Amino acid sequence: MIDLAPSILASDFAHLADQVERATAGGASLIHVDVMDGHFVPNLTIGPPVVKSLRQATRLPLDCHLMIENPDQYIPDFSDAVADWISVHQEACRHLNRTLNLIKQHNCRAGVVINPATPVETLSEVLEIVDYVLVMSVNPGFGAQKFIPATLHKMTKLAEIRAARGYQYRIEVDGGVGMDTVAEVVRAGAEILVAGNAVFGKGDPKVNAEALLEAARSASLHQV
Ligand code: DX5
Ligand code: ZN
Repeated sequence: MIDLAPSILASDFAHLADQVERATAGGASLIHVDVMDGHFVPNLTIGPPVVKSLRQATRLPLDCHLMIENPDQYIPDFSDAVADWISVHQEACRHLNRTLNLIKQHNCRAGVVINPATPVETLSEVLEIVDYVLVMSVNPGFGAQKFIPATLHKMTKLAEIRAARGYQYRIEVDGGVGMDTVAEVVRAGAEILVAGNAVFGKGDPKVNAEALLEAARSASLHQV
């Protein structure tokens, strides 16, 4: 099952509800919200108030990607704003098990994220408790960056570990996913596709989302 999670970072914030509606009409099944704090990543974006407004504008689950230091401090706020999925970076969490459990205690799906330089092995002790693993295919901080092919093997490895150990997590990819890269990420094992620029960059988000999903589904049919 392939899910498309458009990242609103690339959208026109003055028309956010309309942009999300167009992407939803094109088949999006999650909305990806990039939260940046200017410390963990060199950029500032949005926080719980925007999630709260967005909650009124869509029925789709809100997938909040926290690129922030000390996420424990903000998890209750995102849960109150009614985030559905919350992911935190392995690199930002000193007590990763505690943070993931905190997300679950707030009745959200818990995800863990790894940067391009972080190996899958660093997640070995938490894979059993996470709902999803997000593999960054760019260094986080900005939209519209170039896809890093060296991250593909991590998606495959996560799929292999899941099959071998009988775990349930889903595999998400984020960064540089577009018409030129979507087939390879799906073939590598990604099931939840984050796409910012490819959906909201130019043209109609509905048409863009449809094209991406079609390419993803056909790559998944041709998987061996
Ligand atoms: C990068 C963010 C991504 C980004 C994706 O730090 O986590 O979600 O917005 O944008 P594209 O698809 O344009 O690479
Ligand atoms: Zn993201």
